[in-house]
Amino acid sequence: KIPVIIDCDPGHDDMMALVLAIGSPALDVKLVTTVAGNKPLEMVTRNCLNVMHYIGADDIPIAVGCDSPLVRPQNHVDPLLAEMRRNTGAISEGAHGKSGLDGFTFPEDNPKKPEEIRAVEYMAKILKESEEPVTLIPTGPLTNVALLLKCYPDLKPKIKKISMMGGTCKFVFTRKYMEFNTFVDPEATKIVFESGLPIDMYGYDVTYSVLYDKEAIERMRRNGNQSSLMVADLLDTFMYRHNHAFRWLGLTDVCPIHDACAVAGVIAPDLVTEAAYMHVDIQTDGKLFDGATVCDYEDILGGEKNVRVIFNMNTPGFIDLLVRSGAACK
Ligand code: BDR
Ligand code: CA
Repeated sequence: KIPVIIDCDPGHDDMMALVLAIGSPALDVKLVTTVAGNKPLEMVTRNCLNVMHYIGADDIPIAVGCDSPLVRPQNHVDPLLAEMRRNTGAISEGAHGKSGLDGFTFPEDNPKKPEEIRAVEYMAKILKESEEPVTLIPTGPLTNVALLLKCYPDLKPKIKKISMMGGTCKFVFTRKYMEFNTFVDPEATKIVFESGLPIDMYGYDVTYSVLYDKEAIERMRRNGNQSSLMVADLLDTFMYRHNHAFRWLGLTDVCPIHDACAVAGVIAPDLVTEAAYMHVDIQTDGKLFDGATVCDYEDILGGEKNVRVIFNMNTPGFIDLLVRSGAACK
């Protein structure tokens, strides 16, 4: 089994990433950590505890991470995104809704509590104790991971690779090279991308290429177990919210499930059908482009190829994996 740590900010697609990881016989999930991103830290932590308990993963520790980016305020909004929302009459509260996980009501009597030690220390403990190098799967802003690398540089050899959701090369969401997770904490992204560790970047290029549809949701629902029914309800809501929050993308009855891609690539590397190593520079010193993943895909600058950018995956194989993982959880 591949030992992994998942660092997340649930979020519907983070929820799917967790279900996929827990439901996969190929992974040994050692720890789940939370970070402020989609919503404030308390909210994403509550969502994480709810999902993990509901899918029967009470034995896996959850540790709480950073409540804001390294340098910048939490929840700063890209002015261009705000303007596009206004111009297109998009729904408010974004893709994940008010709770960060709208579309399902979890039972209130959840006994699962976060660990007393914080995310970065717990990650370090897992790395120290693990006999084999551990794969990190960040699906939120990279704040916790950057701090881990700064606080415990001697543990870098214990990290096998970083399979992350974030960034974009050619897919334009608002402006070139801009994606939410890297935008939220540009300084942390820069630290991680310059760490010298192997990085697989599952950004918008791949996540908007492998879309789920209504049939995928119905297959999940037909599994019939409680985790799959929860996933199906949440994916219904996410599809509606995503497509109405980002109307300019013109998506109907299909939707990306970003964070799950970074997990799928660890479980089944053969699902990746198109990827390339390249130099990716992180902008931190401008204004409009801070957090941008400037991908030198034509190798014009001849910089160090620090990132493997994933462009495409086998969609039916990806959906099969998701549906099977739902069935394998509680
Ligand atoms: C990323 O932003 C979040 O809203 C999602 O959970 C995902 O991690 C996509 O840009
Ligand atoms: Ca996320």
